[in-house]
Amino acid sequence: MLGFCPMIDLHCHLLPGVDDGPRDMVSSLAVAEKLAEIGFSTACVTPHLPWMNRCHSADELGKVRGEALECLKKNNVSLTLIQGAEHHSQVVLELLQNGGLISYPRGDTFLMEFPFSGLPPRYLDLLFRIQVKGRKPVIAHVERYPEVQDDPGVVESMKQQGCYVLINLSSLVGAWSRPAQRVARELLRLELVDAASSDLHMANEAGYVAEGLSVLEDLVGPAGVHRLLEAVPREIIGL
Ligand SMILES: [Fe+2]
Repeated sequence: MLGFCPMIDLHCHLLPGVDDGPRDMVSSLAVAEKLAEIGFSTACVTPHLPWMNRCHSADELGKVRGEALECLKKNNVSLTLIQGAEHHSQVVLELLQNGGLISYPRGDTFLMEFPFSGLPPRYLDLLFRIQVKGRKPVIAHVERYPEVQDDPGVVESMKQQGCYVLINLSSLVGAWSRPAQRVARELLRLELVDAASSDLHMANEAGYVAEGLSVLEDLVGPAGVHRLLEAVPREIIGL
């Protein structure tokens, strides 16, 4: 744990029963305890939208977050929960249109993911259209997309469209795949990463996040950890 750094997790699946994260509040509490143990002071809870063909509303998720916060308080877990969502690229324009997009508190930034099978052919056009509407996507786990693994320069073109880019801490220790591990490290070296996050779904995966944090510190030093886990996350959420 890096005690000097009040770290902010921009991406985790902590809320119970809303996606492939914890099924119930007991498991949710276990995820929160792990994040706090690792050293996070704040976690943005970012369930998949849609999940099972349905997009939860901000009100629905806010209610579950309130229950989770109550549970954390009762169990003396010191972790602030901020509402967000991990929007699939296919639904972003529709949600922008109907007001269903769930931004970070800053208002114009929101978490977004692409299919792991590959970036859509017109992904830059999509990013441009989002930018024109005054929003800034925060792209989740860029290291996991095949196009980025083939050419890390793809991340540069995303950033030119006004996006922030995230990597998963667990990728740094190869929790997802060798190519993801290799390119995550390469993107750090190229200084193309804006922030690192846990993307934690279950408490039993927390070891990879803790190990990833330790690798990150080796790779970028304390100042880099501060930038990737506190300063830029703070800018992204607007707190
Ligand atoms: Fe995620």
